[in-house]
Amino acid sequence: MRHGTTTARIRPLPLLALAAAIWLGGGTTVKASQAPRGASVQECLDCHGRQGFSASFAGQRLSLYVDPQAYTASIHGTNACTTCHPLGGLQPHVKSYSPRATARAVDDNCRHCHKEVAGQYQQGVHAREFYGASAALCSDCHGSHDIRKKTDSRSLVYPTNVPSTCGRCHQGEEMKTYQESFHGRAISLGTAKTAQCASCHGSHDIRGPEDPASAVAEVNLPQTCARCHLYPRENFTKGKEHAVVVSKGPGAPMYYTLKFFTWLTIVTMVALILHIEVELLGKLKRLGG
Ligand code: HEC
Ligand code: HEC
Ligand code: HEC
Ligand code: HEC
Ligand code: HEC
Ligand code: HEC
Ligand code: HEC
Repeated sequence: MRHGTTTARIRPLPLLALAAAIWLGGGTTVKASQAPRGASVQECLDCHGRQGFSASFAGQRLSLYVDPQAYTASIHGTNACTTCHPLGGLQPHVKSYSPRATARAVDDNCRHCHKEVAGQYQQGVHAREFYGASAALCSDCHGSHDIRKKTDSRSLVYPTNVPSTCGRCHQGEEMKTYQESFHGRAISLGTAKTAQCASCHGSHDIRGPEDPASAVAEVNLPQTCARCHLYPRENFTKGKEHAVVVSKGPGAPMYYTLKFFTWLTIVTMVALILHIEVELLGKLKRLGG
């Protein structure tokens, strides 16, 4: 089983012994050279598909487990592992494994297959270097071994999941104000048709509001909102989107509208319940009489 022998087959017994050695011995026993080049998914999963498969690096225990079921159910489930982790060069099984380095290495391969998306992404703010690495890699928003179609409600980029996906990094005022907005409240009730982060910001070509090419730049806002609000009122896009909803300042109109609709909802619900009760009582009376 040497690196480079394409036809090499893994024999299960030594493999089990090796896997056991990793569990017990902290990953020092299995060498980089022991994974076969051009291996099938099953061959990779012989080690990585074992629950709890992990190794120690610089005193830190890191999981190397890949859930076989989740992988098979994912959109890439029929692809060889090596489409994202090509063997040869450094990959795989470098001694100095770090999750971030692996994610960065994979990123090139995502882009290789998804050229159109990669082109858009390259224009956006997340492709830019930030603290020495891209601000957000493909896998930061999509995950790795359980990527699903965007129309699948379990996808990290399914509309109702987008806020928490962006929220892994954007936790500040933008998140708070979004959650308090009409859109944010509707999303938390499970409405996929309302605006989530990507409806206004885009998904791959995301830019800051100061960039004139940004979907949220002041000049482009009417068009951005008009994707859903076909006949907006005058001044619809005026004011700050991520305004704090309090009774004073830019959030005041939102605050009072919110109060109004909250009470409207309560009153409507109470009226509805009363109506049903009266009708039921009437029915019971008729049955009894
Ligand atoms: C669609 C691309 C893709 C495919 C296909 C893929 N991986 Fe990964 N893999 C990734 C990404 C992205 C990461 C980095 C994830 C992170 O940041 O933790 C990763 C990380 C890993 C790691 C490091 C530990 C971890 O989970 O982060 C292992 C081990 C691994 N993959 C094994 C496999 C095996 C085995 C297969 C085949 C069953 C496979 N991968 C198929 C994208 C992929
Ligand atoms: C004999 C057991 C074994 C087999 C088979 C195996 N691996 Fe690994 N893998 C390991 C160990 C152990 C590590 C931890 C790094 C080290 O000690 O070299 C690792 C680390 C990794 C990593 C994280 C480090 C990196 O290079 O990014 C990835 C990704 C990975 N393996 C993918 C694969 C793929 C893809 C296959 C199939 C082609 C595979 N492995 C087959 C044992 C194995
Ligand atoms: C900042 C988060 C983010 C990053 C980073 C990101 N994506 Fe996406 N991606 C999304 C969102 C959100 C959607 C869903 C868009 C929609 O519903 O129309 C999406 C959709 C997709 C789709 C489905 C087709 C499409 O165009 O809608 C593919 C393929 C995809 N992304 C690949 C990638 C690749 C490859 C990378 C890295 C180059 C990447 N994404 C980086 C958020 C991201
Ligand atoms: C070997 C080529 C290949 C690689 C590498 C690859 N993909 Fe894919 N990806 C595909 C194919 C093919 C599909 C299925 C397209 C379809 O069915 O519409 C797909 C589907 C997807 C989808 C779902 C698209 C949708 O319609 O919602 C997303 C998201 C995605 N890939 C993201 C990624 C990310 C992120 C990576 C890297 C971690 C990656 N892909 C690596 C080929 C690849
Ligand atoms: C209805 C449209 C809309 C939605 C939904 C939305 N945003 Fe924004 N976002 C904007 C606009 C417009 C701006 C420009 C500044 C402003 O008006 O507050 C902005 C600005 C931002 C900024 C830059 C802040 C700055 O001042 O530089 C970030 C970061 C951001 N939004 C993240 C998010 C995240 C994360 C979500 C989802 C939780 C989200 N946005 C949802 C429209 C939206
Ligand atoms: C892995 C972390 C990460 C994820 C996930 C992420 N971002 Fe970012 N984002 C950053 C970093 C880092 C920057 C650049 C520094 C900054 O301006 O905050 C940035 C910048 C931005 C900006 C520009 C801010 C400005 O003022 O220039 C917007 C808008 C934005 N992100 C929106 C989103 C949206 C929408 C999502 C989800 C679809 C998302 N981000 C997901 C890390 C992330
Ligand atoms: C993806 C579609 C979508 C986009 C894009 C969108 N909205 Fe909305 N918006 C909705 C839906 C659906 C509702 C009604 C239900 C709710 O509260 O989410 C709504 C409700 C609202 C409301 C409260 C009710 C009302 O009509 O007064 C305001 C204010 C609003 N949106 C402003 C905006 C602004 C400003 C933008 C652009 C920055 C925008 N929306 C972008 C879908 C969207």
